Amino acid sequence: MKPINVGIIGTGWTGGIRANACSKTPLINELHIAETNPERLNEIKEQTNPTFATNDWEKLIQQKGLDAIIVSATPESTHYPMIKAALEAGKHVFVEKPISTTIEEADEVIATAEANNLKFTVGYSQRFKPRFAYINKVLKEGLAGDPVTCLVSRNVTRELGKKITGRSKLSPAAMEATHDLDFLLWCLQPRKPVRVYSQTSGKLFRQQSETPDHQWILVTMDDGTTITVGAGWILPIGYPNYSQCWIEVICTEGALTIDDTHKEVQLNTTEHGIRYPMSSMPGEPVDHVFAGPMQEETIHFVEAVVYDRPVMVKPSEARLVMDVYIAADMSDELGEPVTLPRNDTRQGKNA
Ligand SMILES: NC(=O)c1ccc[n+]([C@@H]2O[C@H](COP(=O)([O-])OP(=O)(O)OC[C@H]3O[C@@H](n4cnc5c(N)ncnc54)[C@H](O)[C@@H]3O)[C@@H](O)[C@H]2O)c1
Repeated sequence: MKPINVGIIGTGWTGGIRANACSKTPLINELHIAETNPERLNEIKEQTNPTFATNDWEKLIQQKGLDAIIVSATPESTHYPMIKAALEAGKHVFVEKPISTTIEEADEVIATAEANNLKFTVGYSQRFKPRFAYINKVLKEGLAGDPVTCLVSRNVTRELGKKITGRSKLSPAAMEATHDLDFLLWCLQPRKPVRVYSQTSGKLFRQQSETPDHQWILVTMDDGTTITVGAGWILPIGYPNYSQCWIEVICTEGALTIDDTHKEVQLNTTEHGIRYPMSSMPGEPVDHVFAGPMQEETIHFVEAVVYDRPVMVKPSEARLVMDVYIAADMSDELGEPVTLPRNDTRQGKNA
């Protein structure tokens, strides 16, 4: 086994988790980081003791001996030029969702990765939660029979909603439901989505912008199974970056419900009232362990590069998710269902 050298671009919330995960594994020899916020750069330098740290991501990619790059910068429109440059420099790439803001850019970088035999994967961290993996197992192995309908309803706090909508005009479908669409499309393979209907609603954020508060997406698969995914971002603050999620899978021979609302651990203090620790989507470090999926997801990518193993999330799967959320945004605009695959070139409102 030969340890690799990894560079991370953007070490904010998620990039900080990934940098810490990388700094602890013997599978990585050198860690290099690029971060434009000087205070955050110093904070992560202190936490991870990197070989090289810069505020210039292009310098990071030029560093000699780097095997792989993790792109965790915001706004999301920065992803495409960073991935393109990293792949063209011959590096394996992990990018936080979304790959890019248009299908054309996604197709281009997917083709570059394939042509150069490089690993390329996308951060759909929820696949690394044991309870989500269990749903995948039940559906793939037919343990409850044939799926009839699957629902995922997710809501996050308005603090997180403000952070996300403050940096881009991407919709709840593109920014939040994307995780649960990826998850259900993965569980239901080899079925394919053929029709998408979506509706947004908004009363809080719409006081100041055109941003909706919530979006429902109804997807029909080619065997008639239906998927309903809801994504909202105006919950009151319950814990920093709190996320609550409820899942129902109804099949011909059984039903599976998963409560991922994180209500099983409550910390009640005089200062903050009731809070729900360990309840964000990526998770958080707790003493000597990591509570959540992001550390394991990061190590999975590193192992895929070190041992030349397949990545968990194939770029073609992430591209299909893009097709579905772009269709959802179109459906919301048009007020009617959108058929997949689309044979037009419209990009939807996220482009
Ligand atoms: N998988 C998940 O659960 C999950 C959760 C949250 C966010 N995300 C995704 O992760 C990505 C990062 O989100 P975040 O919440 O960590 O954002 P963040 O704003 O906390 O961090 C982004 C960091 O990138 C830095 N940055 C911006 N431009 C840069 C540049 N040109 N070069 C280097 N650094 C730069 C910023 O200073 C910031 O520290 C987004 O794509 C987001 O959609 C995924």
